[in-house]
Amino acid sequence: MEPIVQVKNLAKSFGSLQVLTEVNLEVYPGETVVILGGSGSGKSVLLQILLGLIPADKGEIWIHGYEVNRFQKEKDWDPVRLKTGFLFQAGGLYDSMTVYENITFAMRHHLHLSEREMRKRVQEILASIQLEGIEEKYPAELSGGMQKRVALARAIALNPPLILYDEPTSGLDPIRSAMISELIRKLQRTHGITSIIVTHDLHCAYKVADRVMLLYQGRIIAHGTVEEFKQSDNPYVRQFLEGKTQGPIEE
Ligand SMILES: Nc1ncnc2c1ncn2[C@@H]1O[C@H](COP(=O)(O)OP(=O)(O)OP(=O)(O)O)[C@@H](O)[C@H]1O
Ligand SMILES: [Mg+2]
Repeated sequence: MEPIVQVKNLAKSFGSLQVLTEVNLEVYPGETVVILGGSGSGKSVLLQILLGLIPADKGEIWIHGYEVNRFQKEKDWDPVRLKTGFLFQAGGLYDSMTVYENITFAMRHHLHLSEREMRKRVQEILASIQLEGIEEKYPAELSGGMQKRVALARAIALNPPLILYDEPTSGLDPIRSAMISELIRKLQRTHGITSIIVTHDLHCAYKVADRVMLLYQGRIIAHGTVEEFKQSDNPYVRQFLEGKTQGPIEE
């Protein structure tokens, strides 16, 4: 089976700060991969590179069969973005638009649905994240956690085969976090959706991941199933899982 996402020797620096040194990874159709890593390890940068929001310095990136690092024009990204949902770490809702307008923004461009069909779809999605009836509200009228879930609704609205999540559970209470993890699982089971999730929330990782990877000092230094990770004797993995703040490999 061909990977849906493949990254080879990816590097990225900002000035003298080398964030990604040599990232290699493959994600297969239907998989849920969680990329763990400490704050500042480059998780968000990695996702933004995958979406073409920031350029890589070197490396090859294949998504949905396109070698995206060879794209010349912004328009080249259209077929990739159409098939890729994205949840920004900070939500990234448009403040001047209602919840309904936010969720249907991309639908209007890409799907040819009637207003009635869109209403119905939005209603279903909002119900799935327990946010019924908030279509006409503006982001400023919602709590941070509600905004996050609306952003998630927007990411899944087009039914994309691939979804990238940047910290889907941050800023949510434990019950809502568990709900989001459940939803990610459900999307995989019922729609066969492939997901890449970056997070430092181990609860979420353990719940949703088929495979876990650890990003450390610009590289994926370990990968395996949740069970393999829990039993790993790799000191960096242990440090991350146990949340040690002292020791020889402190950053
Ligand atoms: N556009 C940018 N310009 C300059 N430096 C950047 C830029 N984006 C990110 N960085 C730097 O790259 C490093 C990695 O940032 P990134 O946001 O990817 O971390 P992260 O792993 O997502 O952390 P967190 O868990 O806190 O979200 C940080 O040192 C950050 O300051
Ligand atoms: Mg981040």
